[in-house]
Amino acid sequence: MYVRGIAASEMWVQLRPMRSTPLSQTLNVFRSKRPLSASTNQWIGLQQWREAPLNHDRTWGPKGPEPPLTPATSPLNQHCNGFQRTPSSLSEWGTLVLSTSDPITKARLSHHAYTLWRENDLCLGVWEPPDRPARPPKPHLEALGTGFFSDFAHVADDESRHYLWCSERLAELGFSYGDMPAHNLLWRECEKTSGCVAARLAVIPLVQEARGLDAGPRLVKKLVGFGDNRTSSIVAKIAEEEVQHVSVGVFWFVSVCAKMGCTPDVIFKDLLKEYNVELKGPFNHAARDEAGIPRDWYDESYTTKDRNGLSEVHERLACIISMEKQNSALGDYVH
Ligand SMILES: [Fe+2]
Repeated sequence: MYVRGIAASEMWVQLRPMRSTPLSQTLNVFRSKRPLSASTNQWIGLQQWREAPLNHDRTWGPKGPEPPLTPATSPLNQHCNGFQRTPSSLSEWGTLVLSTSDPITKARLSHHAYTLWRENDLCLGVWEPPDRPARPPKPHLEALGTGFFSDFAHVADDESRHYLWCSERLAELGFSYGDMPAHNLLWRECEKTSGCVAARLAVIPLVQEARGLDAGPRLVKKLVGFGDNRTSSIVAKIAEEEVQHVSVGVFWFVSVCAKMGCTPDVIFKDLLKEYNVELKGPFNHAARDEAGIPRDWYDESYTTKDRNGLSEVHERLACIISMEKQNSALGDYVH
């Protein structure tokens, strides 16, 4: 009923309107991939369960489930957390259940609401539920812990320093922040993944910041070519420090997967598909290796090449050619 803080309210959560991509939907990725299709065997007792009489066996007696000896005496609205009236629709009852922190009361309210529903005393209705269910002070829910927040506060501190270096250099060149157009890709990806920490870690540090590892050395080389050694040094230092950001992302992504009991490489690929995130090479394998992203997570051709027995030299040549092509494209862009 209140196992791990979610089960009692789970049936009510299903009444909630779906907003963007909810965590529950994302977590389904981690569960069975068995499709709900016509070929799925339906449980033989489903219809019987639906039509079964209301079950009032709310206690566990010497011989098993039985109705309570004395009916509950306290009025149901005693713990209604600000509800000024008795709900008149199933969705309003659902909201009341979600807004009630005491688990016993939550259970009583659930049963009472379902009883009314079965007696045809309720309409379905539309009601805005709370974003999170009310909970008692205990149990303490499993969380990522202060280490997670400490690491990402550190990342934010690094980024703020990177900004100041760039801002200072722009000023030296006669520009300031905002003089040149910029894209909003990073924040768009943040919005997309705001409901799921695993997806956020996969998409931001492991894809977007990892792209910085790929692009950094190419930009450094171009800047040296322009004779701007001061800017190239700044970009090189930023690219070097991005390794730590990707590394922190890998650490926490694997930790979150471990907490969920799922395999990181499978989930990483599933999340990118679900959130429609594309992986683009050429990849800076040395920096990615240093950051700890396994190559088979992001390089689909890796295992294929391995299977085909292509030599490492061939792979490196292909990578150099690909990076040279990118350099030309980058040159066009910079000009
Ligand atoms: Fe970063």
